[in-house]
Amino acid sequence: MKHIDVVGLCGSLRTHSLNLAALRLAGSCMPPSMTLDVVDWRDVPPFDADVMAEGMPAVVTALRERLRRADAVLIATPEYNFSIPGMLKNAIDWVSRGTDQPLQRKPVAILSASPGPVGGARVQYDLRKVLLFMDAMVLPKPEVFIAHATAKFSADGHCVDEATIQFVTDQMMSLERWVRQVDRMIQPG
Ligand SMILES: Cc1cc2nc3c(=O)[nH]c(=O)nc-3n(C[C@H](O)[C@H](O)[C@H](O)COP(=O)(O)O)c2cc1C
Repeated sequence: MKHIDVVGLCGSLRTHSLNLAALRLAGSCMPPSMTLDVVDWRDVPPFDADVMAEGMPAVVTALRERLRRADAVLIATPEYNFSIPGMLKNAIDWVSRGTDQPLQRKPVAILSASPGPVGGARVQYDLRKVLLFMDAMVLPKPEVFIAHATAKFSADGHCVDEATIQFVTDQMMSLERWVRQVDRMIQPG
């Protein structure tokens, strides 16, 4: 079975981010054919078309190249004011520019964690909308919203909730099937 290289993007820059913990949980729940590489995109500058006109910043080119090489992308993000954190949206905006946009036909899965009761559900629909425009192949189901997340992760970022571990495991198994399904769909002939 072909190895599946998954790039992980965390929508939070916080060291003790619940979403980073959720991303790491996903990495530990993946089937043996998949591996997760969490990419640090914090040095991506604010989007400025004048800067882009001078040439794509090296950090953006590196991010775009890493995404292009990946078989799939996993985004774990908090919800900020019912929507996408500005820094994450900014990075996605950079990725969306230029030729050979790397998320085109790329399998993507989304999960979110929040201390609140809705688990970041609303950010996921905004993110899906953006990724739809970018022609990404977003995993339809299962959705994973980790609500009351502070109670579900220990101080050192380990998940202590069996139901959450099962939800994330199920999503990673679905992502594996989705990657193979998308691969078959986009193969010519
Ligand atoms: C600017 C801002 C806006 C927020 N808005 C929401 C929100 O709309 N919904 C929600 O569930 N939590 C909201 N929160 C709380 C975050 O879910 C919480 O801070 C969470 O821990 C952030 O994710 P992280 O732990 O991965 O950094 C907001 C936090 C910040 C800083």
